[in-house]
Amino acid sequence: MKASNVKPADGKLGVLVVGLGAVTSTFMTGVLMARKNLAKPVGSMTQYDKIRVGKGADKKYLKYEDIVPIAKLDDIVFGAWDVYPANAYESAINAEVLKEKDINPVKDELEAIKPMKAAFDHNYAKRLDGDNVMVGKTRWEMVEQLREDIRNFKKEYGVDRVVVLWAASTEVYVPVDENVHGTLADLEKAMKADDKEHIAPSMCYAYAALSEGAPFIMGAPNTTVDIPAMWELSEKTGMPIAGKDFKTGQTLVKSGFAPIIGTRCLGLSGWFSTNILGNRDGLVLDEPANFRTKEVSKLSTLESILVPEEQPDLYTDYYHKVRINYYPPRNDNKEGWDNIDIFGWMGYPMQIKINFLCRDSILAAPLCLDLVLLSDLAARAGRHGIQRFLSFFLKSPMHDYTKGEVPVNHLFQQYVMLKNAIREMGGYEADEEID
Ligand SMILES: NC(=O)c1ccc[n+]([C@@H]2O[C@H](COP(=O)([O-])OP(=O)(O)OC[C@H]3O[C@@H](n4cnc5c(N)ncnc54)[C@H](O)[C@@H]3O)[C@@H](O)[C@H]2O)c1
Repeated sequence: MKASNVKPADGKLGVLVVGLGAVTSTFMTGVLMARKNLAKPVGSMTQYDKIRVGKGADKKYLKYEDIVPIAKLDDIVFGAWDVYPANAYESAINAEVLKEKDINPVKDELEAIKPMKAAFDHNYAKRLDGDNVMVGKTRWEMVEQLREDIRNFKKEYGVDRVVVLWAASTEVYVPVDENVHGTLADLEKAMKADDKEHIAPSMCYAYAALSEGAPFIMGAPNTTVDIPAMWELSEKTGMPIAGKDFKTGQTLVKSGFAPIIGTRCLGLSGWFSTNILGNRDGLVLDEPANFRTKEVSKLSTLESILVPEEQPDLYTDYYHKVRINYYPPRNDNKEGWDNIDIFGWMGYPMQIKINFLCRDSILAAPLCLDLVLLSDLAARAGRHGIQRFLSFFLKSPMHDYTKGEVPVNHLFQQYVMLKNAIREMGGYEADEEID
């Protein structure tokens, strides 16, 4: 075993979230409640999972915090930006994810989290019309304001390190444009020219975070940091980036279930995934241009697990469809159905049905915590650029497509990547033994 050269997690960790909605208010409430020992952070790998280190007689199973220095929940300080002025308490109540009895014990702390003015453009989320927004600012001025917000937050709360997490609404689909998104110089030029078509508000947050020495996590499927210009910036400032799109419900099931079909060499002729969802996320995704962003992200999962080129007899031309329907009565309690048409010996068809009655924000909150703590860890370990070891938590894992890299979507391969990165940062050897 080598000595770990990760810097210690001393001092406070600022967690600045973009979007103070259902997911982030549930995340914050859970962290504050867990701190008081009034709730358990169930579903969080950093709080529960144990990884084997060493082999043979030396092997032992340790929690992440016993392998690498992870920030403590007690050291987290929250801040936020949102289009609406509701504080974190009001937002948690409005979201109706948690019962009041699970929110009220931390009411004072939540009320103190008041959103800063959002860098927002109505054309990127037409269903939103809040007034807690920066007015009349160009894209570059948005960047400058956000950078000032981050610096002020650090000063006001005596915070040493900051992580910025986007869990705001899904923006309209922004295709990658080589001429604008290809290099950092071109990106900055477009921001300064106030190119509203190619520069989404989320890019301003990412640019500001990375420039202020904060890792940036993209929890929605937005293009934002999935462009070479942002990779260049993250290398330049030495900051980690992670994305895209939290892998919470249906896609988690898909990336865990598809390997059953692939490993067993069964064939696939179709996979139809549909959802009903009634929260504000569902409302925004009801807009076709916003849904397009989500659809691209959700569709990418199967293609790299059941690959037609590798097994033409089994996976050529399977029909893959994903739908999300806005249905207000269900609010945050999303219901997902998967109908999977498979075939077996001599091509005989069979069907599998999966019905997941989940709770969107309950599944997303522990991912927020893990992504924040592990991105902060990565920064202290001197890792920068795309953090592929965090693919485990993401629906549409970033990868360098300009170099022909392929994403890893297979849940258990992703878990190996996660474990090995933690082992290596802790000074242990990576390995592929299954346990
Ligand atoms: N819950 C899940 O399972 C899950 C899974 C994957 C991805 N996501 C993504 O997480 C995001 C948040 O989901 P949610 O259910 O909390 O949605 P939500 O609508 O409750 O909250 C999003 C908040 O973001 C704010 N916002 C929008 N644009 C903004 C901007 N430019 N700056 C600052 N704030 C802005 C909105 O006003 C809103 O309050 C969505 O993009 C969603 O697609 C959620």
